[in-house]
Amino acid sequence: MLHYFAFAGLICLLNRRRHFSIHQRNKVPGPAPSLLFGNMWDIYMHGHITMVERWHKLYGPVVGYFFGSIPLINCSDPEYLKNILVKDFQNFSDRSVRESKRLTDDQITDMASSALLAGSGTTSTALSFTTKLLLRFPEVQERLRNELLAATDRGTKFDFDRMQKCAYMEAVILEVLRMYPPLLFFEARHTAQDYEMGDFTIAKGVEVYVSVRSLHYYEEIFADPYSFQPDRFLPENRTLAMSLAHQPFGAGPRNCIGKIFAMMAMKTTLAKLLTKYELTSHREPRNNAKLIPSQSRIFQKLDGPLLCKLKEI
Ligand code: HEM
Repeated sequence: MLHYFAFAGLICLLNRRRHFSIHQRNKVPGPAPSLLFGNMWDIYMHGHITMVERWHKLYGPVVGYFFGSIPLINCSDPEYLKNILVKDFQNFSDRSVRESKRLTDDQITDMASSALLAGSGTTSTALSFTTKLLLRFPEVQERLRNELLAATDRGTKFDFDRMQKCAYMEAVILEVLRMYPPLLFFEARHTAQDYEMGDFTIAKGVEVYVSVRSLHYYEEIFADPYSFQPDRFLPENRTLAMSLAHQPFGAGPRNCIGKIFAMMAMKTTLAKLLTKYELTSHREPRNNAKLIPSQSRIFQKLDGPLLCKLKEI
């Protein structure tokens, strides 16, 4: 009997060792997992996002680790992401569904309401980061207001075409979303088949995540990434590399379905506000783009009230 248990224990241990060596066998760099918790201890102690960003610094833009016993790959390399999200989309089209494959009516209703809630939370977070930065960079606010007053017939007409013509407003929003993406990382895709990528392989079934913040601070692509420079997103300054590396809404055929809606909501809100009021605050340090948002799970948002004075213009 004892022999039987010892044998069963040994088989179990070997299986676990094999399971936890999947990244090593596929040459995906990353932290060594424990046979009991994977890399969960570090994640539990320091937070998922903090650990992933730390691992990116240590192991490079592609990192394999274990969330408990689930093998994950986190990627912040624009070229690889181009393949995963766009070029070889058919191999990465699905997000993982761990529960039942069929959805009940209640689950569909839940998902519809969370899609709307997630959409409004992310959009309002982006707007609060924008407002904060406009308070700290009054010359950006002034330039934006001038563009808006001209485009909206001095704050009287706010239709879709007028909003689309405001290149500087779009640049300001894209730069805010680069520096402070509301979603810090997202589950990109579930791999349908083994997939060769450079020196390593993403094994079938492994979930691939995207580290949005790491991607957005790539120095080779966004020069001086910690400075707030909306001009880098003006049409004449945009490059292909920038569009691959700028992923506040994800990329490819399965990106955020609310992207255009969210952009339009932000543009109209800013246009209505700034053509009527000047925003000021003596509490905000001038020309300082370093905000300290709070992080929860995969989201970041501004902490505390956003205090400012509205002066009618
Ligand atoms: C600033 C605002 C927003 C941000 C930063 C944002 C960000 C994202 C990101 C990063 C993804 C994952 C994309 C991918 O996997 O490639 C996503 C997916 C999604 N977003 Fe948004 N989002 C925003 C607004 C909205 C709005 C307004 C709605 C709804 C009205 C919405 C609904 C969704 C849905 C349903 C998905 C899942 C799409 C799918 O799985 O195919 N989002 N969003």
